[in-house]
Amino acid sequence: MKQLLKLLFLALICFTACSSDNKQPLVSSPDGSIRVHVGIEEGKLYYSVDKNDKVILNKSLLGFVLKDSELNKNFKITNIEESSFSDTWTQSWGEETTVDNKYNQLKVDMEESAGLKRKLSVVFRVFDDGVGFRYEFPEQENLKDFIIMDELTEFALADNHKAWSIPYDTEYYEGLYKAAPANELDTVCTPLTMETKDGLYLTIHEANLTDYAAMNLMPENNTSVLKTYLSPWSTGEKVFMKAPGVTPWRTIIIANKPGDLILSRLMLNLNEPCEIEDTSWIKPGRYIGIWWGMHMEKYTWYQGPKHGATTENTIRYIDFAAKHGFSGVLVEGWNDGWQNDWTKEGDKFSFTKAYSDFDLEKITKYAAMKNVRLVGHHETGGSTVNYENQLDSAFSLYQRYGVNAVKTGYVSPLLDGKEMHSSQYAVRHYRKVIETAAKYHIMIDNHEPVMPTGLQRTWPNLMTQEGLRGQEYDAWSQDGGNPPEHTTIIPFTRGLAGPMDFTPGTFNFSNPVFPNTRVQTTIAKQLALSVVIYSPLQMASDMIENYENRPEFEFITSCPANWAKTVVPDAKIGEYVTIARKDRDSENWFIGSITNAEKRNLSLPLTFLDNGAKYKAKIFKDGKDADYKTNPYRVEIEELDVTSDTVLKLELATSGGTAIMILKQ
Ligand code: NOJ
Repeated sequence: MKQLLKLLFLALICFTACSSDNKQPLVSSPDGSIRVHVGIEEGKLYYSVDKNDKVILNKSLLGFVLKDSELNKNFKITNIEESSFSDTWTQSWGEETTVDNKYNQLKVDMEESAGLKRKLSVVFRVFDDGVGFRYEFPEQENLKDFIIMDELTEFALADNHKAWSIPYDTEYYEGLYKAAPANELDTVCTPLTMETKDGLYLTIHEANLTDYAAMNLMPENNTSVLKTYLSPWSTGEKVFMKAPGVTPWRTIIIANKPGDLILSRLMLNLNEPCEIEDTSWIKPGRYIGIWWGMHMEKYTWYQGPKHGATTENTIRYIDFAAKHGFSGVLVEGWNDGWQNDWTKEGDKFSFTKAYSDFDLEKITKYAAMKNVRLVGHHETGGSTVNYENQLDSAFSLYQRYGVNAVKTGYVSPLLDGKEMHSSQYAVRHYRKVIETAAKYHIMIDNHEPVMPTGLQRTWPNLMTQEGLRGQEYDAWSQDGGNPPEHTTIIPFTRGLAGPMDFTPGTFNFSNPVFPNTRVQTTIAKQLALSVVIYSPLQMASDMIENYENRPEFEFITSCPANWAKTVVPDAKIGEYVTIARKDRDSENWFIGSITNAEKRNLSLPLTFLDNGAKYKAKIFKDGKDADYKTNPYRVEIEELDVTSDTVLKLELATSGGTAIMILKQ
């Protein structure tokens, strides 16, 4: 029935058979502002994009180099098909409850005019907030199993925009996003976010990466023409492909302001609808963990005198979680196999054998009594073969004990000693883990992943992922920790790829192991990050003893992890960002505002609140003279009555923040 209704929305506007190369297909967004032109010149296929008559992408090449031939020339258009689609779908969790999916589509079918006469199609979907397109390889005699050596897709930028990126070879994507003119970029990962001189914001990324290699970009000969570079297999091939088959969608968000990048749902819309019929077992929530203690070297992962994952310690954490309303307790180092260098010997890990001082049965029974769940942990040390061999038994063990979320990890520069985390090899593995976990009703928090591309729409048990430089760098990074601007950039770069398990919420900034490394924020900014950084499984990172007797902890324990609505009242990439989110289960709003190393005053009109309604605001703000270097702990808590007419004055300290809860009366 659902499918039938969807089909009703699909209105086929026109269907034109055409064999002329001169025909210039064109498709516009529903509001008419964005246009994509497609054309063939001397047998090669090109597209270009404009918005309100301003060029976004100049003529950009499409096509492939295959192992045994080229698939990028002698094309003629054989058919053009236009259609429109409009639908609204509901997310079981997310930054809002419903998502509008409205676009105009153009499908261009081509065929080589000589030789093997192979067929290739490109499908463009143009939304009001950007463009997605993908290649389709139809079933055909002369193209069955084939190997892609190079995808030639270009993004010929109209200018050398300011671009925020991390280099392609950044280990686990855990880098600091730097701004540079687009033509000076190295090979970089996507999402690649840019600001144009005309004040537009563009993000290039991809959607629905399921059996392909991740896309990276590199400027062609120091120009602003960005070319695709797919992450290779160790043997040099990029993608093993079959026809019929499709590539991931290549996406370009085009926004008038930075906040609109965050509100774009183009990537999710370009993923397939949910595959899981009953999603009632998928539950967003907040968790704590026996975790920061390991990073601060108070505990060890392996069994010994400083072992963190003991039954006694876990029960202490469960009691704390129950008292403060956390839904989960992550415990790392519970299982056999942690040794000195587990990043090289991941195949020693057992995912079913607990250390003798960790009583899984006793712990999970106790947790159930307290209405808390253990969050499981599978660190693979990059050995996917060892993990896949145990996958079913590992998930079924956890399911038997009521563990409904597992954090996975792949710490090792290469998977199985040879393949990149962004290769087709890795993509296939991660996908298998998500689908297997769903069979056992287990949610996944994937660390050291491939860059996310919106698969959570199809598999909403894929809750959150790392693939970014998280708070753990404030424990041991040799460069001193995450600089103040980092969290004012990631919502507009990595954050556009999906939820981030950044793990904010550290309350004790002293670092006995690396005294020159520490959290470079104020406490109020740590609170605000719970809202600014979106993750449906949101961690409070610190050891529980550091939360005792801290009144500001109330913000973390009150802040939901699932939202009905998100708005971005104000932002400037790399400088500051304010995000307001409405709770999925109440009429309350939560706001986070953060700044870089500059202190600043912002004004925040609460126009997003219901007109005429009364609210009580509880504001957690940087205290007098707060400063992230000299006085980071000073926080003030203030209460006041507000309405949608109220304009709050926010005073953010250097690397400071304000966190606000607004409760409807
Ligand atoms: C790296 C992860 O990011 C971190 O959260 C985890 O504690 C370690 N790997 C061990 O699995």
